[in-house]
Amino acid sequence: MIMRIKLARLIAFVVVFANIIVIYYSLRLFVSFGGFKSYYTVPTVKTSTKSPTKHISKLVTIIIREFESFENDVAATVQSFLNVFPNIQLMIVYDSSPYPPLDINLKNGSFRNLKTVNLSPSLKVPYIERHPVLQIKTKYVLFVPDSTRISSRQNLQYMIAELSKQPENIIVVPTSNKKDLGCLRINVNIREWTLKYSLIKGTVCDGVTGKHLILMETEILKKLSDPFILPFPHSLYIQTAPLLIKINILKSPSFQEGKPVLRSHHAQWKQKQVNASRLKNLYTLFQLKQVVRETGATEWYGCTRETPRCFGPILDLMPSYLFEGKWTPPCCLSNLRKTAKHVFNSLDEAGIRYWLEAGSLLGAMRSGDILPWDHDVDIGFNRDDLLRSPWLTKAQDKPVVDSKGFLWEKATGGNFYRINYSKTNKIYVNLFPFYCKNGTMTKDAWYTSHKNMEFPDNFLHPMSSIEFIGRQVPSPNNIRDFLELKFGKGAIENPEYPNPSRLPFP
Ligand SMILES: *[C@@H]1O[C@H](CO)[C@@H](O)[C@H](O)[C@H]1NC(C)=O
Ligand SMILES: *[C@@H]1O[C@H](CO)[C@@H](O)[C@H](O)[C@H]1NC(C)=O
Ligand SMILES: *[C@@H]1O[C@H](CO)[C@@H](O)[C@H](O)[C@H]1NC(C)=O
Ligand SMILES: *[C@@H]1O[C@H](CO)[C@@H](O)[C@H](O)[C@H]1NC(C)=O
Repeated sequence: MIMRIKLARLIAFVVVFANIIVIYYSLRLFVSFGGFKSYYTVPTVKTSTKSPTKHISKLVTIIIREFESFENDVAATVQSFLNVFPNIQLMIVYDSSPYPPLDINLKNGSFRNLKTVNLSPSLKVPYIERHPVLQIKTKYVLFVPDSTRISSRQNLQYMIAELSKQPENIIVVPTSNKKDLGCLRINVNIREWTLKYSLIKGTVCDGVTGKHLILMETEILKKLSDPFILPFPHSLYIQTAPLLIKINILKSPSFQEGKPVLRSHHAQWKQKQVNASRLKNLYTLFQLKQVVRETGATEWYGCTRETPRCFGPILDLMPSYLFEGKWTPPCCLSNLRKTAKHVFNSLDEAGIRYWLEAGSLLGAMRSGDILPWDHDVDIGFNRDDLLRSPWLTKAQDKPVVDSKGFLWEKATGGNFYRINYSKTNKIYVNLFPFYCKNGTMTKDAWYTSHKNMEFPDNFLHPMSSIEFIGRQVPSPNNIRDFLELKFGKGAIENPEYPNPSRLPFP
């Protein structure tokens, strides 16, 4: 009995001891493979004097995105980083294979971590290899502009340490501490198709101008629609700004400039053309039609008089953009204002009695402008005056282009008239002929959808006027009653889309 207990104790002791040994060696093995170390790399960066470059190489992928194949310093930039971090992952991303080819000696052993990613579709290249984000295996990415040098590991260690304190942000440093970076506020209004830059003071920005390096978590790239479009990094900031991701400019330590590139007159000229076409492509892709620069200059990337308007035929009174949660493109609103001003002037000149109707009157009441989602301007006029206008007279037979390039036609959809911005750009103003019948203003053909139904003629006696698109325009008197008669109570305070029931979701 006693012997048995002693034996049991002995066995238990041996098992516990063996366990301790196993655990001890497992731990040693774990630590020697990197173990917890990689998690502690970043915090120890500042204190340790022997820098763990091995771990930086495992943490960061260096990416060179923008360079010109006709003149660049990519090979030397790559070499500079490999000299400091021989094992770091490096990626060069381009839209088409550079020609002449980059002068990088790919046979050198230190280039085994260099990847090139050609973004263009190719019958020879699988999807996964064309998409940089699917190729990046590290926690961080560092975007390096062409012609940059790194002189010591500290630069990158410092950046990583800073980023680890604010991982939701993006960290940037200038390539040269002689130059200051510009700090931008970027307002992207998707619903109104507009982008606005303004320069601000400080180091926490939405975007940055000037030559700089960018460090961020790879995770951020995955949140963006297309993080590698040119011009880079301009395109990056347009995408991070709406996500409220901040760009933090660090003052030091800076990197160095590499070989000067694109300095000649010819190269500058060439790059200017390339820049302009990349910008146009970028704004078109993201449907940004009005861009206000930090200088205050406005650029348009939308429709003009010589191009078709930005939306197709309208079905059920609901233009396609409403289904995308957007309002009328700003170029269309601007073209519509021009057309309306021209029509008001023509009607004034001809001595035609007219008034602002329906949605346009509603817009005037609300903000003195076209409703931001409206696609036309509606005007009522006195049918008895029709022949006073040479253009309305001519339009009765067939469409006619007036001396200023606007097209007048009798609309096929009913007994009314339409003035198109031009022969090509068919954004339009409607002119509805009314006449008085036993005290009621009425029309012959009912185009009921326009809410321009008949109304008591005392709304026009006397006429009133209202501010609209920067001028006074004749209107019915008692506008509130007039609009509530047409649209129902509360229409001015709570206007609705023309046919809200068509929207699939609120
Ligand atoms: C090859 O790599 C080594 C560093 O590993 C570097 O010193 C050398 O200059 C490289 N050679 C060429 C031709 O780039
Ligand atoms: C072209 O754009 C880049 C930024 O994408 C800018 O650094 C460069 O100065 C521009 N060059 C010219 C000539 O406009
Ligand atoms: C004027 O614009 C309307 C609406 O876009 C279009 O249906 C019509 O064909 C245009 N008129 C002419 C003559 O092009
Ligand atoms: C004219 O309107 C009045 C009241 O508004 C109505 O009593 C009368 O019947 C109408 N006459 C005709 C011919 O429609």
